[in-house]
Amino acid sequence: MGMNIESIRREFLKDVGEATSLPVLYEVKAKYLGRKGILTNLFKELKNLSVEERRERGRVLNDLKEWMEERIRKREGEILEAEALKKELEGKVDLTLPGRRVRIGNIHPLNRVLREIIEIFSSMGFSLEEGPEIELDYYNFEALNIPKDHPARDMHDTFYITDNALLRTHTSPVQIRAMRKRKPPLRVISAGKVYRRDSDPTHSPMFHQVEGLLVDEDVKLADLKGVLSEFANRIFGGKRRVRFRPSYFPFTEPSLEVDVECVRCGGKGCQVCKGTGWLEILGAGMVHPEVFKAVGYDSGKYVGFAFGLGVERIAMLKYGIDDLRLFFDNDLRFLRQF
Ligand code: DAH
Repeated sequence: MGMNIESIRREFLKDVGEATSLPVLYEVKAKYLGRKGILTNLFKELKNLSVEERRERGRVLNDLKEWMEERIRKREGEILEAEALKKELEGKVDLTLPGRRVRIGNIHPLNRVLREIIEIFSSMGFSLEEGPEIELDYYNFEALNIPKDHPARDMHDTFYITDNALLRTHTSPVQIRAMRKRKPPLRVISAGKVYRRDSDPTHSPMFHQVEGLLVDEDVKLADLKGVLSEFANRIFGGKRRVRFRPSYFPFTEPSLEVDVECVRCGGKGCQVCKGTGWLEILGAGMVHPEVFKAVGYDSGKYVGFAFGLGVERIAMLKYGIDDLRLFFDNDLRFLRQF
């Protein structure tokens, strides 16, 4: 059938957009809808089609025709309005003065990385779960196997609001909320702000984490490694080796810290990785039976893994940024580089 409807549509829009006076607009109208117009010719070709095809094609062409007429009417209005305004202002305002240039903003580097992280885990089947930033002690600590007198509370310098309410110190409470809401199998991530009383070049009182949780009947540590390797490859690009180191978190057993091959030197050892060739990027582990107990999951039947990562840290490594505070200064000279 010759010309493609979509490309006609596109060219038409361009022509109409470029028409800034009525004579030019009417030329455009003739080009498409006139006696020898592009669309008119397509209508003429209809007679070569079978009844069936003709009906279908005829409908498409009629729609296109109506749409074009509508666009032209609209443009006509715009041109008339612009001309009226020009006449009104003639001699009063210098319309040839150049306008003030408005710079288009860009997405904050943290949001950029956050979106990228979410996109990667979504593509692996994790869905996004939300939780509040003002959280109950129960979700932030108790249900995660961190009782009131547990020494692990020292790891979190908490902003308390009341005895039972606080600014969440991590995104892990969303694990509890997700499990209380739903039955396994479960595959969720959560992303957002967390708060700790901490402030220096590598710590900010507010920062961002992404949490992941997968629960099913037959889950192994190897699955966690697979998911995190895929994540490391995609967020930093290329093939990245990932290693697990034993660690401790009250809500996982075993607990691990996960390192990725240094993004700067590729493992040879440099300043960024302090000569080790490895960079720590997240905490993870297999969900502790006490956590399952708190949410009423049968830990005889279900197994799960969880992980938590700092978005600022990933962004700093990805873009070679050495001071965390740059993210929050809102200095345009910094932000414009992304
Ligand atoms: N919540 C931990 C923190 O903020 C990070 C973490 C470690 C999350 C292990 C997890 C995990 O889900 O399994 O330090």
